[in-house]
Amino acid sequence: MKKYFLIGLLSCSNYCFPQLNITPMPAEVKPGKGSFILNRSTTIVLEGSGLERSAAFFNNYLQQHFGYKLKVTKKYTGDNAVSLNYERLDNAIAGAYNLTADKEGVYIAGDNEEGVFYGIQTLIQLLPVAKDLGIKKTDISFTIPYVSINDAPRFAYRGMHLDVGRHFFSVDFIKKYIDYLAAYKFNTFHWHLTEDQGWRIEIKKYPLLTQVGSCRDRTLLGRYGSNKYDSIKYCGYYTQQEVKEIVKYATDRYITVIPEIEMPGHSTAALASYPYLGCTKGPYKVMDTWGVLNDVYCAGNDSTFVFLQNVLDEVMQLFPSKYIHIGGDECPKERWKTCPLCQKRIKDENLKDEHALQSYFIQRIEKYLNSRGRKIIGWDEILEGGLAPNATVMSWRGEEGGIAAAKQNHDVIMTPGTYCYLDHSQTKNEDSVTIGGYLPLEKVYSYEPIPKELSAEQAKHILGAQGNVWTEYMGNTSKVEYMIFPRMSALSEVLWSPAAKRDWKDFERRIPGLMERYELWGANYSKAYYDLTATVLPIENGEGVIWQLESKNPLDNICITDLDGSNDRFIKKAPARFAVKHSMHLQATICTEGSSKSVVTQNFSFNKATGKKITLVNEPNKSYPGNGAFTLVDGVQNQKGLARSSEFLGFSGKDMDAMIDLKTLTDIDKITLHVLDQNGSWIYLPSQVDITYLPDMDLTDEIIRNAPKQIKVIDVVKEKGTKTIVIESKQQCRYIHVVAKNFGIIPSGNPGAGNAAWLFMDEIEVE
Ligand code: ACM
Ligand code: ZN
Repeated sequence: MKKYFLIGLLSCSNYCFPQLNITPMPAEVKPGKGSFILNRSTTIVLEGSGLERSAAFFNNYLQQHFGYKLKVTKKYTGDNAVSLNYERLDNAIAGAYNLTADKEGVYIAGDNEEGVFYGIQTLIQLLPVAKDLGIKKTDISFTIPYVSINDAPRFAYRGMHLDVGRHFFSVDFIKKYIDYLAAYKFNTFHWHLTEDQGWRIEIKKYPLLTQVGSCRDRTLLGRYGSNKYDSIKYCGYYTQQEVKEIVKYATDRYITVIPEIEMPGHSTAALASYPYLGCTKGPYKVMDTWGVLNDVYCAGNDSTFVFLQNVLDEVMQLFPSKYIHIGGDECPKERWKTCPLCQKRIKDENLKDEHALQSYFIQRIEKYLNSRGRKIIGWDEILEGGLAPNATVMSWRGEEGGIAAAKQNHDVIMTPGTYCYLDHSQTKNEDSVTIGGYLPLEKVYSYEPIPKELSAEQAKHILGAQGNVWTEYMGNTSKVEYMIFPRMSALSEVLWSPAAKRDWKDFERRIPGLMERYELWGANYSKAYYDLTATVLPIENGEGVIWQLESKNPLDNICITDLDGSNDRFIKKAPARFAVKHSMHLQATICTEGSSKSVVTQNFSFNKATGKKITLVNEPNKSYPGNGAFTLVDGVQNQKGLARSSEFLGFSGKDMDAMIDLKTLTDIDKITLHVLDQNGSWIYLPSQVDITYLPDMDLTDEIIRNAPKQIKVIDVVKEKGTKTIVIESKQQCRYIHVVAKNFGIIPSGNPGAGNAAWLFMDEIEVE
């Protein structure tokens, strides 16, 4: 890692002044010449009231990591001070501050208390990390470079979420998590407290919610769909006393805790506790696997609303937050369709359908919370069937929901899966089970929360954004830390720094410093940034594919070994481009002395279509674009059965309609389609596959498209989590037109019923 640092030292701005490692990058930084020494005799001077919390935070940090505290006084008695004060900066969003370090010490002036607190966070980042100092911790004096900083947040809502339903985390860890938020100037902790797999908050009026609902009998092992379980009872909840302690802890760090009490879906833990809340009256069990479940709160029974209002009364007592998150996502309408009470409600309230019933549900809860001075936030499904009048929308299924809500003059928090879901893999060489997807650090950093589609006026409704941490595959705190760091540090810059200050190259310069600080904190983090990244690319002439390997250091050597028999070793300079002409099992490593030991292996399975030209009529969904149409003929076949692997193309409601050009007249025996079949995740096999074989001739697109289709019988073979559809037929042709018909609308009785099914395809093999 050190060498990347040295590369940075060559430029003049580094050379003339010390480079500062502050994340999120402040709005304005003017380095000075010289440095101030902070030591045990430095005093903290509070020049205004209400600054004790900031002083205490700084002292606690020093105590925790370096073993001493500074004296706090109210009177300035000369140099060698960290002075905290107020100054009118008139920033519309709370948290602006100025920080000056010069020969007299450090002076922090906040627009308000938050501002001073953020000034303290910046000061902490000006402290070197302990392991650089090489001396006994308690004797440390810190060299703080002279600097003048003017800073203010860009967005008012800077959130991080944590799901404690799938896995439960201790009060101590929640506090640690809140400290992580504070360090990166986040101001909102979205605490997802209720789930199918566990109810995690004590409600005095309903003791069974925790006696029954906080425990599941066992937990799924491995990936969703594995059908393997441990045999360990899994329990956990927060008492109201603990909740109060956490809310105070967060408040002392200027962080608002927004509780999420999920409804009407994701509620089987509540139903297991009080079966009268469901349409069928049970029995229900606290879920032991992941996914979306059909048993939800009954929307026709007034008792459901009495229950939820009583729960929310206690929740409001505990959480002073203006917002209460009521969930609203992934609520199947199956039970409601056949429940007499729900159908009666639809009739009595003159509702169009079950979507309107969900809207009725959310609006009724909103009305209740509004009447008690609170506002609701809901996931973007609350748009369906009509938005509750005062709701704030959390846009997670892409940005579309957020755009639609802002256009309807509703406030929005952006948290699109493709940029903000920190449960997705951050490396293609993932070494632990994750929910899937691929969200590298750079992509998080590139996120722009204001969609281009909005006018300046509409854009004011985008309050900010949030990183989401769903914990199906995070069974311990170390995994949570691994998934959030360093991506949450990147997201902090998206949310805090002026758009014009965002600079990936400069963020990259700061990555080693970020990692050193995680180490000081004892926090786990991902080093995926330093991974060798492998991409499979087409070759111009279609004779094979290119395996391209890139490393963060352009001076690296890449060693590529043929693992099949020969063990031949090839050494190339990064970025290495290796032509693959036939089936091979390859391994690549960075083989430069002192570099990261990142290893990538890849199986290439060649067939007659590999590397050939392919075009698609329908683009895959933006969330699952793979590497474009080429993904289907790149010789890489998914072997893990990952539902969201980047090796697949995902089509929502659309057909996969491809034309492959084999370049010459070719003998064909069979065609094999590699697809996913995971109905629990709304992924279905195609309903039909049409294949048209076209001879070698000068064809217009129109002729090709209109050629008669040959509809073939499908032979489905399951292997390693994926399925293959084999179509056998002896043919000679140049062009192959393959249409895999999307399954269509998911039928009732299944997760996601009524929605468009997904079609996931990985490879088209021609033999
Ligand atoms: C969500 O990820 N289901 C909001
Ligand atoms: Zn019902």
